[in-house]
Amino acid sequence: MQKFKAMTRGILAAAAVATMAAAGTAQASDGGEIKYRKAVMKAVGGHMNALVGIVKGETANKADMAALAKGMLSLAKISQNVFPKGSDAMGGETDALAKIWDDPADFKKVSMAFVDHAQNLVTAAESGDPKALGAAVGALGKNACKACHDSYKKKD
Ligand code: HEC
Repeated sequence: MQKFKAMTRGILAAAAVATMAAAGTAQASDGGEIKYRKAVMKAVGGHMNALVGIVKGETANKADMAALAKGMLSLAKISQNVFPKGSDAMGGETDALAKIWDDPADFKKVSMAFVDHAQNLVTAAESGDPKALGAAVGALGKNACKACHDSYKKKD
């Protein structure tokens, strides 16, 4: 009986977590999309910093550059989904400018450039040539990160 009670408690606890998760979905307008976007962008920034560390020779570890580049490509694809309509006004602090949703065609161009340059980054990283990687990181930084931040992100 004791064992049965413990099991019931476990199931109830799991159900409570599931209920909370469902409630979270219902409250997605409460800044959740902004939080998610920032978390994804932080991961993008982390990958960029790690790649720059390799390019600058700050680490002896070059073996992970292809994996990091592939991670960046995944994040570039994920980033296509982090600007849902209306998420500039979802009750959270955001640095995203309303222009993203006012001029979706132009925004799409720069966000697709992110995917293209991340793809080039993977090719360069797989070549194992740090010079090629350096050029690809530079092009990504200029044509994706900076291009988008200059037009679509509030200045720091
Ligand atoms: C298509 C547009 C776009 C591209 C490309 C892009 N960003 Fe961003 N990024 C944004 C916007 C908009 C924000 C502000 C998000 C917010 O506050 O809701 C942001 C925020 C950030 C942040 C701050 C996250 C936080 O903690 O609030 C970092 C770091 C960042 N980007 C790094 C990068 C790097 C590095 C790249 C290139 C590899 C990149 N971004 C490419 C649009 C972009």
